[in-house]
Amino acid sequence: MGITEKVGKDYNIATMKLSRILSNQNGVSRKRANALIAAGTVTVDGCICRETAREIDRFSTVACNGRVIQHGDQAHYLMLNKPAGYLSATADKVHKTVMELIDPELRKDLHIAGRLDRASTGLLILTNDGAWSRRLTEPRIKLPKVYRVTTVEPVSTNAIERFAQGIWFEYERLTTSPARLEPLSANESRVTIYEGRYHQIKRMFHATGNRVSSLHREQMGAITLDPTLEPGESRPLTSREIILE
Ligand code: URA
Repeated sequence: MGITEKVGKDYNIATMKLSRILSNQNGVSRKRANALIAAGTVTVDGCICRETAREIDRFSTVACNGRVIQHGDQAHYLMLNKPAGYLSATADKVHKTVMELIDPELRKDLHIAGRLDRASTGLLILTNDGAWSRRLTEPRIKLPKVYRVTTVEPVSTNAIERFAQGIWFEYERLTTSPARLEPLSANESRVTIYEGRYHQIKRMFHATGNRVSSLHREQMGAITLDPTLEPGESRPLTSREIILE
């Protein structure tokens, strides 16, 4: 298998210290900014903040003595029921991309939190909040991703054990984290992985002498694909879904 490791886009997850925002936008010295913060005149999203070093991202509104210094951008979190045939990319010269399925007003600023292959279907999450999407996809955080998989050959007991032990990926020179493979019928199974490496499930089945014929993502962390969404439809995440445990 020829593998080119795909490195995720470097999302903007920049933050700035509160005192710096104040001195940059308000035209005061850093010392004066610290004094204003310590005096309780500065609010972050409506709450007084006395922490000069608080890291502020672009989604927070900062005010000093009631005057807004930074307007927080609106954060967007969407789930899409991805149909087959759409590329998980923001733009492409050859293939249609999932962005074409999203409201043009929203799509400008969005990125994909955990891609699916072009032929794969199901839960795809899009957001403009880079720090949030990092938590959703970071292998270290070990959020489960659940897939329904159809294979060309029946799933073997050996494959269940191999998935549980972890499978050696020569290209990256690593062993995948233990994964759960639950057969549902001879050629259908549910797979839970805790990372999201390039073509991970296809490569894991390939390593056991099998081949994936279809792959559908049902869940990422506590976010489950809404069964009322037809392929190609999307909806905003609820506030509950946005909270990542
Ligand atoms: N693993 C794959 O092989 N493909 C996907 O789209 C997702 C996980």
